[in-house]
Amino acid sequence: MSGDSNGRREEWGSRWGLILAMAGNAIGLGNFLRFPVQAAGNGGGAFMIPYFISLVLLGVPLMWIEWGLGRYGGSLGHGTSPAIFDALWKNRVAKYIGILGVFLPLVVLVYYIYICSWTLAFSVFSAIGSYPVVQDGSAAVSTAAYLAPYRAYLNDYIGASSGNVIFTPLPIAYLFFVGTLVLGMAILGKGVAKGIEVLNKIAIPALFIMGFVLFIRVLSLKSPLDPNITAVNGLAFLWEPDMSGLFNAKVWLAAAGQVFFTLSLGMGAIMTYASYVKKKDDIALAGLATASLNEFAEVVFGSTIAIVAAVIFFGSEGASVIARDGAFSLGFISMPAIFTHIGYGGFFGFLWFLLLFFAGITSVVALAQPAIAFFEDELGWTRRRSVVTLAVFFFVVAHLPMLVSGALDEMDFWAATLGLVILALFEVIIFFWIFGADKAWEEIAHGGRIRIPRVFFYIMKYITPLFLLVILVAWSYDQLPGILSKSDTGVWAARAFLLALLGAHVWAVRVAWRRRRMRQFAQVQS
Ligand code: ALA
Repeated sequence: MSGDSNGRREEWGSRWGLILAMAGNAIGLGNFLRFPVQAAGNGGGAFMIPYFISLVLLGVPLMWIEWGLGRYGGSLGHGTSPAIFDALWKNRVAKYIGILGVFLPLVVLVYYIYICSWTLAFSVFSAIGSYPVVQDGSAAVSTAAYLAPYRAYLNDYIGASSGNVIFTPLPIAYLFFVGTLVLGMAILGKGVAKGIEVLNKIAIPALFIMGFVLFIRVLSLKSPLDPNITAVNGLAFLWEPDMSGLFNAKVWLAAAGQVFFTLSLGMGAIMTYASYVKKKDDIALAGLATASLNEFAEVVFGSTIAIVAAVIFFGSEGASVIARDGAFSLGFISMPAIFTHIGYGGFFGFLWFLLLFFAGITSVVALAQPAIAFFEDELGWTRRRSVVTLAVFFFVVAHLPMLVSGALDEMDFWAATLGLVILALFEVIIFFWIFGADKAWEEIAHGGRIRIPRVFFYIMKYITPLFLLVILVAWSYDQLPGILSKSDTGVWAARAFLLALLGAHVWAVRVAWRRRRMRQFAQVQS
């Protein structure tokens, strides 16, 4: 059992600490890199309407559901979905379905830690001014030519040359990866209140301050293309309402997927954090506060900083091209290209990447905690043993996305696109349909500092699961054939890894439950 020397399960130290930790769990690279790319790539204004509808019908209800599931599990001494589902549903398969709540965050972390380490490295590179400044920033230069040296810089760092299956990262990239891993694991080693909570009490306020400074700076950027292009054009690019998105399935899928990823829902991470909340504590207001802080960071900072800067520097056309090229282009290529052409650019570049690093590392510890909770709660391991095991695991398996082209995207699809919708669907069905809607509602409302409007009862019971089912079917129809038809080395390596890891989870659950039965048997005998 995890916890202090008396064997008590750990708890959060303070209410503010809990809310900041939950905000840190949700606010991540997804807010600043994934969101602007999704929004710009799906028509900007056309994206925001499905996004907000998905937030109300999926995001906020699932946030409350995961808090409710977590606090319920914690009161029984369990912090992960295998045991929580097993407690709610007396069926042998429940614990195996619950495996997803440990498996999915682990898979996401295998590449997330590596990307997080780039942000730390690039903050240092910005601060010491090691970026190339080879373009004059004049309007005559095309976007592609302007960005070329920065693209080469990133590609050199991660060792990616086009067409090569095996990447050859620079030794410094490896060092930053190891440093980020050691830092994350050291924080986890200190435990929930003294490690995770302390980190978030520092990182989240700092992140909001840095976000605000960058927000102000970007709004006052001058365009090298045309003095008439200002931040207003950048904001219009994203915010001009466009109803056509309402009739486009692809836009709905992207919007709902973004809501999941950004709020860390369907990953087991919110549930595990909530398992360290005391039974009598409020979760209704705290869950809403988590979602609100995340949305503020996403919609205000995430939508403005990178996209508005790109529109000012490269025009709407150029910004669209960059966004279509993906999150790495926007965050790691376009932003340094802009910062090296403005006054005190090194400082602002440093702030940008440090903001990303704080967003990333607070999510790294959140995504790792379900595995630690499983080891502690279900296998009875000490925290030290759990953290060391996890550190060795990540050190070994992170080589897959680090070295093999195509593995990262494949893992991202199964875990962070498809897997989290499946887990979320099981969460709602098991909590509201099998355990019982009235009991689930009471569980969420218990100790609440606010009364959740009754309409959410019906949303959680009917609309959320239906919406999830539609997304699942549409996604399978829209994306599965394309994904399944891929067959390069990286894809197969990732699939083999995912199957092996899933098998290891099934084995670990069997071991844990066998031990549990033996303990129960021994108690009956004595
Ligand atoms: N919610 C985390 C993010 O946005 C995983 O990056």
